[in-house]
Amino acid sequence: MQDPKYVRNAFARIADKYVVTNHVLSLGVDVLWRKKVGKIVAAKSPAMVLDLATGSGDLAEEIQGRIPDATVVGADFCVPMLDEARKRKIKHLVAADGMALPFADDSFDVVTVAFGLRNMADWPKGIREMSRVLKPGGMMLVLDFSLPAGLLRGPYRFYLHTLLPNVAGVITGQKDAYAYLGGTIEKFPSGSEMTDLIDANGFTDAKCDPLSFGVASIYTANAVG
Ligand SMILES: C[S@@+](CC[C@H](N)C(=O)[O-])C[C@H]1O[C@@H](n2cnc3c(N)ncnc32)[C@H](O)[C@@H]1O
Repeated sequence: MQDPKYVRNAFARIADKYVVTNHVLSLGVDVLWRKKVGKIVAAKSPAMVLDLATGSGDLAEEIQGRIPDATVVGADFCVPMLDEARKRKIKHLVAADGMALPFADDSFDVVTVAFGLRNMADWPKGIREMSRVLKPGGMMLVLDFSLPAGLLRGPYRFYLHTLLPNVAGVITGQKDAYAYLGGTIEKFPSGSEMTDLIDANGFTDAKCDPLSFGVASIYTANAVG
């Protein structure tokens, strides 16, 4: 669970370099992960989609591009990140806190959150808010980092805690924001721990799909009515 003031400020400091830093650190793989999420969402042909913690709007734009007739709303509590999202083709952008969303119950067919839930102050509360604004049976999709199992875990931790903050520090001048990232990934639940958390907070049938040897995962679940 994270301190919202620190999180908002950290993203405000890196907002203008956020996208390029992501692509460098992931060697472009983050683009493929978001494309996969976009494909899953488009297969549902939703009319109303919320991309929570939309940040620079990469995922919202990916989804809007795949389903041009849908209303895609991007929401984030960091205005400098939303300013980056405004450079993209997204129909609606809203400054909003995932802990208390300014939307009525049962508003959306799909809610996505990419690399955002991990940064929230209260994960169960964030999940319950997503359930509340989803129509009964609507889909939540969480894309986030996880720790790979087995032999890869050691080298990945070295990358996460040593290489990544140093490289990102050179690009952004904000090494501490990326040192913080590794700490959040260590603490964030993954696999069955995460599917249990989702099912206990307003959803059913949560599933986990590990990506890239478990470095990231996609969780899907349906809102309970
Ligand atoms: C790592 S970025 C992810 C941005 C984007 N979804 C992506 O795929 O690149 C995390 C975003 O979560 C936002 N965020 C964190 N806590 C939030 C909250 N409680 N409510 C709304 N946005 C939040 C931050 O402002 C930041 O823009």
